[in-house]
Amino acid sequence: MVSGIISTKKQGEQKITEKIVLAYSGGLDTSVLIKWLQENFNAEVISVTVDVGQKEDLNEIEKKAKKLGVLKHYSIDAKKNFAKNFVFPAIKANALYEGKYPISTSLSRPLIVEEMVKIAKENNATGLAHGCTGKGNDQVRFDVSFASLAPDLKMIAPVRDWKLTRKEELEYANKRGIYVSNAAKKYSIDQSIWGRSIECGILEDPDKEPPEDVFEWTTTPEKAPNTPQYVSIKFQNGVPISLNDKDMEPLYLIKMLNEIAGKHGVGRIDHIEDRLVGIKSREIYECPAATVLLEAHKDLEKLVLTRHEVFFKQNIDSKWTFLAYAGLWNDPLREDLEAFINKSQEKVNGTVRLKLFKGGLQVVGRSSNFSLYDKNLVNYDIKTGFNQSYSKGFIELWGLQTKMANLLKQKIKDQEVAE
Ligand code: ARG
Repeated sequence: MVSGIISTKKQGEQKITEKIVLAYSGGLDTSVLIKWLQENFNAEVISVTVDVGQKEDLNEIEKKAKKLGVLKHYSIDAKKNFAKNFVFPAIKANALYEGKYPISTSLSRPLIVEEMVKIAKENNATGLAHGCTGKGNDQVRFDVSFASLAPDLKMIAPVRDWKLTRKEELEYANKRGIYVSNAAKKYSIDQSIWGRSIECGILEDPDKEPPEDVFEWTTTPEKAPNTPQYVSIKFQNGVPISLNDKDMEPLYLIKMLNEIAGKHGVGRIDHIEDRLVGIKSREIYECPAATVLLEAHKDLEKLVLTRHEVFFKQNIDSKWTFLAYAGLWNDPLREDLEAFINKSQEKVNGTVRLKLFKGGLQVVGRSSNFSLYDKNLVNYDIKTGFNQSYSKGFIELWGLQTKMANLLKQKIKDQEVAE
């Protein structure tokens, strides 16, 4: 869904030499950027806002862009595409960067770039621009995706180069009449259906508990309902297809789960993160649906995959997650890894039940036609096909080298004592 709006702005005396497609969020950096590109780069700006579920008023963003004098503005509803082609692969890969962050911001970047490149080609643009600083990961994701998908276009990242402090930027915005919301003044926020990332301000002290005004999608656990809620999620080929026995489209299922889990205070993440540029940062995330779905998916895999598959897949998953986090979505290795991941997911069918209560999340049940769990094997009371006497020989061989290594260690020690 694309809406192009031609503004009536007349450019000044300066000769326009560039036509730049800008990833426009409506926030401080990118709003300042529109003016900057016009004033310092002799550029016409085409702004693009890609809706990945950031819950912003797209009409307001469009109005703001027009007021800043863009040549055209595009609002792209990419939520379904994002859910199906970016979030679902992340579920299959159990994607948690450094074991904690569901890469909700990271995943949206290559999609935004895909849309920008389409628009740039349609409009014969000369360059692509983003409003990322030189300290974060997003600059890497945009630049590498730009270079991979549109190597012929100029890449422009003025915020990285202009070295304005946040305070100076706010002043610039103020002078040019650019509206900045109160929340945006306090924190740097990024949202998609997969989660909400919050940085800056008091959060930069990693020793301070985040104040309540940081959170918008999750209830404070203390104030969450006093009775637990159960949810059941059915998976087919590694992706969720129904919630509480109702079949749902990916986008709707994720939205519903964000609400249900958020209400119970589930999905708050406080993370010391290693950015690509080497900085350690303290990041706060609210990812209710992601937290539930990743936990459920991982649990189901343990029921249906062999331990060899589970252990091997952990390495594949963490590699996949790192590529997505590190701006290498378009590296062929991602698809190579997905060939393995997708094959493994053919068996990841079944239902997982979870309990949500005051910020806590627990898997309480799981079932699958592909289950490798055999009650008869595990039960100590029943005589089964599992011959316990075989275990003795197995252990003998299993521990053989460990035993030998320790014998040798003792022998060397004894020799040293004797000398
Ligand atoms: N650290 C996260 C990432 O690199 C989130 C960045 C969020 N950006 C923001 N403006 N709050 O994916």
